[in-house]
Amino acid sequence: MSGIWREILAGLGKSIPEDTGVDADDVPWELYRDLAAACAGRPAVIAQVGQSLDGRIATESGHSHYVNGPESLDHLHRLRAIADAVVVGATTAFLDNPRLTTRRVPGPNPVRVVIDPHGRVPESHALLTEPDAETLLVTSVSRAGLRAHCSVLDTSGGDRRVVPRLLLSTLRARGLRTILIEGGGQTISGFLSEGLIDRLQVSVAPMIIGSGRPGLVLPAIESLDTALRFESRTYPLGKDTLFDCRFS
Ligand SMILES: NC(=O)c1ccc[n+]([C@@H]2O[C@H](COP(=O)([O-])OP(=O)(O)OC[C@H]3O[C@@H](n4cnc5c(N)ncnc54)[C@H](OP(=O)(O)O)[C@@H]3O)[C@@H](O)[C@H]2O)c1
Repeated sequence: MSGIWREILAGLGKSIPEDTGVDADDVPWELYRDLAAACAGRPAVIAQVGQSLDGRIATESGHSHYVNGPESLDHLHRLRAIADAVVVGATTAFLDNPRLTTRRVPGPNPVRVVIDPHGRVPESHALLTEPDAETLLVTSVSRAGLRAHCSVLDTSGGDRRVVPRLLLSTLRARGLRTILIEGGGQTISGFLSEGLIDRLQVSVAPMIIGSGRPGLVLPAIESLDTALRFESRTYPLGKDTLFDCRFS
């Protein structure tokens, strides 16, 4: 029976089966307690990015498996278990063909949300074929023949730009209160630049890629006086270092 994790999820109204093993000592449970407390009873947005020391999330060609070690992957899956919905951009969905489930940890799968304005995610990809969880495609392109676990959410106002704030309110109207923005960099940056992220989880790997796709990219500023500053704590995750950044 995993007592701490069960208690944390129970605080969010989520449950796990009884026989799911023992809570390990080397997991930052206080972080998950804190995140769950921050998410309980109010809408919250968590973002996560796994990056190299030089701020890259993938090579130029999009190869990203894996920047981070197994402990960071477990962390990501715990964040998914805490979340009601997980959001990815079309490039991540297209290149990584992710499942966005909690298969590494005990916990419910979140609803999967793909911002795919041009309908780039192929029908054969796991999000569209595997009914582990509901998949919401945010697109104004009509998609015929979707399976029962998939549906289309058209939040665009005519053009194909998805307004992050409107997407969040649409998800909240569906009862999805804790939202995890999982990547990639462009998608997270869109939410961050509009001040919509409450907690940012950055897992830094002791690796230099030296080129490739950047993590966070915000509009240029002239002076460091206007840089984003915030309270943060760090946690070791195997060989990686996790920065838990609080924006609210
Ligand atoms: N290390 C990590 O933690 C991590 C996590 C996730 C992904 N990745 C890697 O990151 C790479 C992809 O990241 P990325 O930054 O290039 O792309 P991305 O964020 O995955 O996807 C960007 C695309 O999503 C759509 N999109 C996102 N926000 C939108 C909005 N507000 N309005 C309209 N469309 C929006 C657009 O699709 P259209 O181009 O169709 O307009 C946009 O070009 C992949 O290589 C993946 O493997 C790494």
